[in-house]
Amino acid sequence: MNITIVGTGYVGLVSGTCFAETGITVTCVDVDQTKIDNLNKGIIPIYEPGLEPMVKRNMEKGRLFFSNNLKDNISGADAVFIAVGTPPDEDGSADLRYVIEVAKEIGRYIDHYLVIVTKSTVPIGTAKRVKATIKEELDNRNSDIQFDVASNPEFLKEGAAIDDFLKPDRVVIGTESERAQAVMTKLYKPFLMNNHPVIFMDIPSAEMTKYAANSMLATKISFMNDIANLCEIVGADVNNVRRGIGSDSRIGNKFIYPGTGYGGSCFPKDVQALIKTAEQKGHPLEILKSVELVNNRQKSVLYKKMMAHFDGNLKGKKIAIWGLSFKPNTDDMREAPSLVLISKLLNEGAEVTAYDPVATKECQRKIGDTIGYAKDQYEALIDADALLIVTEWSEFRLPNFKVMEKLMKENLIFDGRNIYDLHEMKELGYTYYSIGREIIKKETIE
Ligand code: UDX
Repeated sequence: MNITIVGTGYVGLVSGTCFAETGITVTCVDVDQTKIDNLNKGIIPIYEPGLEPMVKRNMEKGRLFFSNNLKDNISGADAVFIAVGTPPDEDGSADLRYVIEVAKEIGRYIDHYLVIVTKSTVPIGTAKRVKATIKEELDNRNSDIQFDVASNPEFLKEGAAIDDFLKPDRVVIGTESERAQAVMTKLYKPFLMNNHPVIFMDIPSAEMTKYAANSMLATKISFMNDIANLCEIVGADVNNVRRGIGSDSRIGNKFIYPGTGYGGSCFPKDVQALIKTAEQKGHPLEILKSVELVNNRQKSVLYKKMMAHFDGNLKGKKIAIWGLSFKPNTDDMREAPSLVLISKLLNEGAEVTAYDPVATKECQRKIGDTIGYAKDQYEALIDADALLIVTEWSEFRLPNFKVMEKLMKENLIFDGRNIYDLHEMKELGYTYYSIGREIIKKETIE
C-alpha cells in the first residue's frame, strides 16, 4: 500500500513513521522546505523518544519519504491523511485554513479513487467540509472521479506517541462507505493483531469522539485538582483519596493525579474548541467551562503557596525551578504551567533559575533570557531560597537531598507533582509544600 500524509508536525510525522514501520510506503508532505530538507537528512523537528531511529530506519529501507510536493504524491496513493495544524482562532475555535487548502489541492489533482482522511483534531463537520471542497474542485474540472472522506482521530500522548500508535487502546474511524472502510481496515490491520480494536462509526461521531475523550480526561484532571485543593483545607491527603477512588474500576486509576494544571497542545485547545462548538450550537457545556476555569487557576497554585509562605513578598528571592516542559519526556512548552508561574514570579521581582532535561532551548525560544538556565538540576539550586518542582521528570524523583541542602539557602520545596514522601521530607528536615497534602514544616530547634 501507499499513503501520503500531509503535515509533518507531531501527528503527521509519528503516524507516517509508524505506518512505514509496517511495510507501507509513506510519503510525508509539508510546505515548509527547510523542515523537509532536514527530515531528508534525518533531522527530526520534535523531541519524541524513539522517533529519530525509526525515521532513519524506514528511510533506509526505502519506505519513508519526505517531499514538499503534494501534487506529485496523490496519484500513487491509496489514501491521503490530512495532519496539518489547526491552531486556535482568537475566540478558541479551530482555524481550518490549512485543512481546506489541502482539500482544495487534492481536489485539483486527484486522478483515481482515494480515501481522504482527516487526522488533525478538527471540529465536528470538518470531514463534510473537506468533502464539499474536493467536490467543488472536481466540478470545476468536470470530473466524476470517486473519492471518500474518513475521520481518524489520533490519541497519541507526547513522550509515548510511538507506543500509543503501535499498540493503540483502540482505533476510531468514521467512514461513509464500505470501500473506504476496506482501505482503512487494511491500513490498520498490522496494529490490531493483539486485540486492539478498531471501532468504525459515522463521521460526526468519530470527530466528536476525539473532543469528548480529551475533554473527559481534562475533566478528570481538573476535578482532581479541585478535590486536592479542598483536601488541604479539610485535612485530607489527596494521594489516599486518589488511591481510594481509583481502585473503583468505574472511575479508574489513570488521569487522576493532581498537579499544576494540564498543558500541552491538545487538552487546552480541544477543551476550548468544544466549549466554542457547544456555544455556537446553543448548548453551552457548563462542565467544560468550569474545567477550563479550574485549570487556569491551578496553574498558579504553586505561586499562591509561595506568596503565602513568604508573606506576599518575593522581591529578590532566588527561586529554582525543576522542569519546564508541560510534562516529562517532551520539550513541548505549549501551555506549560511553568510559563504562568515564571511570569508571576518575575512580576513579583523574584530571580528565577530553571533546569529541564530537554526543554531549555524551547523555553529560551519562548521567553528568552528573562530567567537563568542551569546545566543540571543541582546548579539551579545554588543559593536558592526555594525549589519549585513543576514537571515530574524521573531524574527529580530520587535526588541527593544532602547535596541539595548544602546548595540552597533554605530547605524549602514547593512540589507541584507530589513526587516526594511526606515522612521522608519530615525526616530530612525540609519545609515541603505539595498538592492536596499536609504541609511539612521544618522543625526549628529553639
Ligand atoms: C493528550 C491525550 O492524552 C492524547 O490522547 C491526545 O491525543 C493528545 O492530548 P498529551 O497532551 O501528549 O496527550 O499529554 P497527556 O499525557 O495526556 O497529559 C496532558 C496534561 O495533563 C499534562 O499537562 C499532564 O501533566 C496533565 N496530567 C495528566 C495531570 O495533571 N494529571 C494526570 O493524572 C494526567
